[in-house]
Amino acid sequence: MQGKQRVFSGVQPSGNLHLGNYLGALKNWVSIQDLYENYFCIVDLHAITVPQDPKVLRQKVREVAAVYLAVGLDPEKSVIFRQSRVSGHAELAWLLNCVARVGELSRMTQFKDKARKGGAEAASVGLYDYPVLMAADILLYNAHLVPVGEDQRQHLELTRTLARRFNHTYGETFVVPEPMILRTGARVMALDAPTEKMSKSSPRPASYISTLDEPDTIRRKTRRAVTDSGTEITAAPDKPAITNLLDIYSAMTGRLVADLEEDYRGKGYGDFKKDLA
Ligand code: AMP
Ligand code: TRP
Repeated sequence: MQGKQRVFSGVQPSGNLHLGNYLGALKNWVSIQDLYENYFCIVDLHAITVPQDPKVLRQKVREVAAVYLAVGLDPEKSVIFRQSRVSGHAELAWLLNCVARVGELSRMTQFKDKARKGGAEAASVGLYDYPVLMAADILLYNAHLVPVGEDQRQHLELTRTLARRFNHTYGETFVVPEPMILRTGARVMALDAPTEKMSKSSPRPASYISTLDEPDTIRRKTRRAVTDSGTEITAAPDKPAITNLLDIYSAMTGRLVADLEEDYRGKGYGDFKKDLA
């Protein structure tokens, strides 16, 4: 493994891993695992920033590990581990807390969104501080590359800022990592509400395709995915639903959206969804 650049990424063991996690993260991890030295973490310390049932959480950690293996991560090529088993994550988070600024954390849109939903006063300090723990995850391993979905871009930018500031203040210590965010599949939207991100915490099972859904369930959810007005299968700003389905199709097959639009010219949503499923 010597001489290879290092990759670090992780998924929270909360809720159900879905198609967004697969296309935004897991699939890309698998595709690059031969090229790098890889660390793929199950970030349970991140999951407890909101209340968890300990028994369910333990189960979910094992479930995520199983999904990592099922999608094709190879323990011979990638280190697969649980965040809370390595105390260095929490320890480095404290050191970085003393470098991070309140103003920076207050600007994190994911915190603002989550806090708005539950009320900012009631949000845990952990939820607020979560991006610093994420920075610690990455910087602890001197990772060069971090493959994630679009929603993590701002957290990665903060990680880079903290690495640079620490290096500047205390001397060269950390590698400043780069995000790896692909053009397709980086932001998969909910099937029943295409202006919302497909999310693990959604109470609506029809909004996501779980990595553990049976094939028939996947077909049914795809068939019922909302569509836009009009019948054309084209990606456009006023067609968020079909744009999302085309993006998923493109990410799954590696084919360009423009080519898919060409294929389905004059065909209906029915054919398109059947093929997509
Ligand atoms: P999380 O579910 O928040 O633990 O996210 C794990 C990984 O999946 C991160 O790299 C996210 O950026 C990515 N991800 C989560 N939701 C989506 C989505 N709807 N579309 C694309 N990527 C996503
Ligand atoms: N914050 C990420 C998410 O919710 C998960 C995560 C935690 C992560 N630590 C990380 C991703 C380090 C990449 C690298 O999606």
